[in-house]
Amino acid sequence: MKEQPKTVQKSRLLTWRGKYRKLLVDELTPKIHQILKKEKFENEKEQIKSSFLTGKSRTGKTIEAHRLMFEWHRMQFVNRKNTDMLFMNVEKLLENFRQLQIQHEQFNELFAKYSKIGLLVLDDLGAHSLSDWSMRMLYRLIDTRYEHMKTTIYTSNLHFEELTERMNDDRIVGRIKNDCQNRIIEFTNDPYI
Ligand SMILES: Nc1ncnc2c1ncn2[C@@H]1O[C@H](COP(=O)(O)OP(=O)(O)O)[C@@H](O)[C@H]1O
Ligand SMILES: [Mg+2]
Repeated sequence: MKEQPKTVQKSRLLTWRGKYRKLLVDELTPKIHQILKKEKFENEKEQIKSSFLTGKSRTGKTIEAHRLMFEWHRMQFVNRKNTDMLFMNVEKLLENFRQLQIQHEQFNELFAKYSKIGLLVLDDLGAHSLSDWSMRMLYRLIDTRYEHMKTTIYTSNLHFEELTERMNDDRIVGRIKNDCQNRIIEFTNDPYI
């Protein structure tokens, strides 16, 4: 059989907490629950809350966001809580909103879905310039999630000041700061690739 070429990312994602990743797609039986419960006590320190991951391109922010997302999922499952989670590129998410802009019912449905999901990764904030409408929707989403105490993991190549400048608005960054408190994870390492 021909061997599959392996990219760094692929091999890392497969080995990294490989067993949990597999569990997420398999049936979660009581036995698995028991194993996870045991793991919980060994790992109790890592509590996944809203966080802002910042650093230069290719320093591993997106990969870390995935790791946090799956760790969150595991902890929620162990505690028998809502495990809904979603990873979204910010630009793509706003494009989804834009496409439904005039179909109010569908728009509201999608907006409610993104607002209520237990954990949402908003990847690559500030990578593209956004229209006023997109900015308003982004603010509304972040604000609604904050008010409903949902967990959001933000990633950006920019620091808060740069992001404010880029967006020409300080309300979004203000909300993110409130949401993340002191959980700002700075990637100061060299780019991996
Ligand atoms: N912890 C890590 N160890 C080794 N390689 C990594 C790690 N995190 C990321 N990488 C590699 O770096 C690449 C870029 O990571 P990524 O998370 O996409 O960076 P960013 O989101 O900061 O631009 C990945 O595709 C992967 O090949
Ligand atoms: Mg990234």
